[in-house]
Amino acid sequence: MIKHYFIAACAAVMTLSAAAASAQNAPVDQQLVKRGEYLAKAGDCVACHTAKGGKPFAGGLPMATPIGTVYSSNITPDKDHGIGSYTEDDFDKALRHGIRKDGASLYPAMPYPSYAKVKPADVKALYAYFMNGVQADPTPNRGVDIVWPLSMRWPLSIWRKVFAPNVVADGADDNSPIVRGKYLVEGLGHCGACHTPRGIGMQEKALTDDSTQFLSGGVVEGYLANNLRGDARDGLGSWSEQDIAVFLKTGRNSHSAAFGGMADVVANSTQYMTDEDLTAMAKYLKSLKPVKDGVAPLAYDDKTHQALRKGSDQSPGAMGFLNNCAACHRSSGKGWTETFPTLAQSATVNAGNPASLIKIVLAGGEMPWTHKAPTQFAMPAFGSRLSDQEVAEIVTFIRSSWGNNAGAVSASDVAKVRKDLPKQTADAANATVAKQ
Ligand code: HEC
Ligand code: HEC
Ligand code: HEC
Repeated sequence: MIKHYFIAACAAVMTLSAAAASAQNAPVDQQLVKRGEYLAKAGDCVACHTAKGGKPFAGGLPMATPIGTVYSSNITPDKDHGIGSYTEDDFDKALRHGIRKDGASLYPAMPYPSYAKVKPADVKALYAYFMNGVQADPTPNRGVDIVWPLSMRWPLSIWRKVFAPNVVADGADDNSPIVRGKYLVEGLGHCGACHTPRGIGMQEKALTDDSTQFLSGGVVEGYLANNLRGDARDGLGSWSEQDIAVFLKTGRNSHSAAFGGMADVVANSTQYMTDEDLTAMAKYLKSLKPVKDGVAPLAYDDKTHQALRKGSDQSPGAMGFLNNCAACHRSSGKGWTETFPTLAQSATVNAGNPASLIKIVLAGGEMPWTHKAPTQFAMPAFGSRLSDQEVAEIVTFIRSSWGNNAGAVSASDVAKVRKDLPKQTADAANATVAKQ
């Protein structure tokens, strides 16, 4: 009897190992790999997992957190330094639960609270891509630059339990555009990681549209990632569905042009998404209620234009604008569509928080390169040419001209933004100005 069992067990083990071996040699499902590649674009994995000048996905990009610097991991299929030894389950644990293969918790600099919304079927495709469609690279992972005891990872598991949402199941397929758009915006797109304000624990104040905090505007790297809700003045209230889709595809439209972190999002991620998915995201964003109801959109007012043309406004702000900005943005404030963005009725100009407005004047900006719009128009940096007081005057002038209606900016507001400019940006700024 015992012998019998033994033989049966042996047979079972042999069948299992044969199955495992054949699974290893099974032809790779290229269609699944392709779909994974698309999803990796939608998730913008490359942006954080590639260091300046490094191999794609080999990690090592420094990311500032309130307690020190964290480096992104090597997620190429290298067996020793990457995730080559990860099973699909290990990969899922890291991607959606924030847990590394060795059991340690990840820093939420990895946006796993957003990726928790990715369906298992899509995780499978992503895994197939990272194992079979990405070149292995042996770049070792870097430790964190955080001093002990803050460098201990166990408190991260508490953070995870308090703030990370449950992961989703596959569920029934609902391909209506708003459902698809919500899925992409909340999940892989991790738009909220930048566009939702953060709370005391650095957690996003909402991960889904059960609160008007969701996508109501956040600050990243000193830029304001604008309110993406229906607010008419500082949100997307006056943008059409088409305007949003075009912006995500080309990085520019008649309202604005992408700069700062958003230029990278467009360049690495959204420009590669299908028109169908972009329209779905736009439809979903247009369904978000404004933070504040009943605020009328701003209307263009020609008075400023006339005063600048007649020379009847000699205030320092008006003169500063004419001397430094009007060549591109024009005395009408309307710029040239898709070349020099309009300053009239711009959400960036009218936002309560002037961070982006001040920073782009000090540091300049460059539109992203996209297949659909390959010309990268740039704005020079004025940081080394204009004093805090001069920037404050110009920016205040812009915020109250052409029908714009936003509060004054002081020299000390500008000084704060200037102080936080990375040295590199300040140097680049000097170089840009010096060349002219
Ligand atoms: C906003 C930046 C950011 C984005 C976007 C991002 N990651 Fe990460 N990821 C990180 C950081 C930072 C870490 C390391 C965190 C740590 O060490 O605690 C990490 C860690 C990981 C790990 C764990 C590796 C290990 O050592 O176990 C995996 C797997 C991973 N990311 C996969 C992905 C995939 C797949 C995507 C795209 C769908 C992605 N990441 C997008 C920042 C990012
Ligand atoms: C890495 C941070 C980051 C991520 C992730 C991000 N954004 Fe942005 N976004 C920004 C910043 C910063 C700005 C402000 C600069 C600008 O207008 O280009 C911005 C601006 C925008 C604007 C222009 C708003 C206006 O009024 O001018 C739109 C639309 C937008 N983002 C949509 C999205 C969508 C949709 C996603 C997710 C697919 C997303 N963003 C993900 C940082 C980010
Ligand atoms: C040489 C032409 C040029 C000059 C001069 C110039 N800009 Fe710009 N400006 C641009 C371009 C191009 C962009 C788009 C940059 C991007 O998307 O990265 C831009 C973007 C902006 C934006 C962001 C608008 C939005 O919503 O996307 C603001 C605000 C702005 N400029 C203000 C100013 C101010 C204030 C001055 C003068 C101190 C100035 N600019 C001078 C070309 C210029």
